[in-house]
Amino acid sequence: MRRSLVVGNWKMNGTLASAEALAKGIMAGLGSDHADIAVCSPYVHIPALSQLLKNSKLALGAQNVADKSSGAFTGEVSAAMLNEFGCKYAIVGHSERRTYYGDTNESVAARFCQAQAQNIIPILCVGETLDQREKDETFAVIDEQMDAVVAAAGIAAFNTAVIAYEPVWAIGTGKTATDEQAQEVHKYIRGYIAAKDRSVAEKIRILYGGSAKPENAKGLFAMPDIDGGLIGGASLDADSFLKIYHSI
Ligand code: 13P
Repeated sequence: MRRSLVVGNWKMNGTLASAEALAKGIMAGLGSDHADIAVCSPYVHIPALSQLLKNSKLALGAQNVADKSSGAFTGEVSAAMLNEFGCKYAIVGHSERRTYYGDTNESVAARFCQAQAQNIIPILCVGETLDQREKDETFAVIDEQMDAVVAAAGIAAFNTAVIAYEPVWAIGTGKTATDEQAQEVHKYIRGYIAAKDRSVAEKIRILYGGSAKPENAKGLFAMPDIDGGLIGGASLDADSFLKIYHSI
């Protein structure tokens, strides 16, 4: 049985004060320990949040991690630096990174490896654009995104990783994938892994992301291959995020 996981991706929002208030609000409403939960904050808020979240069931993550271990890479933050502040997770390959900041399949694979080298669980984002979906290229795009990471890290590395299927057309648009559309791709991803290693495929958690909210979370989470969510906008409000968490 896979343990479900709900992760908030706060993106570039908030102040230190609002981040702390949001984290406190979430911690106050966690209740029963029925699933894992984490928030990925902006880098600069990580030190304060790591203090606040110490000994809490709310885990901390980063929204990215450098593709190199250290050195002259201005503006980057290494996995070792994140590890020092207790980050359990790091998102890699978010579509906003791929679209606006030039992250490639190869650099995403390098980020994935850097995270794992510091015992940080990478949350690997994959997903197609609307144009790619309309051209029936969804599975081919997923293959390419997965192939690059498998080539760099090996399939066994997915024993300590999380995948997030985030259709680009559903991110921040209010247009959620239907339960069936999401399940179809989640099943495909699990099948892709199973073809290489069945036991890894059984174990890996595949999250859905893209306009997930309290109103649609239950249906998505009921799907057999959807093991939780990567939540953007709705994670910026403690009540909404907790409702999603409690609908698992
Ligand atoms: P929204 O939930 O705001 O659509 O964002 C999803 C996302 O990109 C999470 O990483």
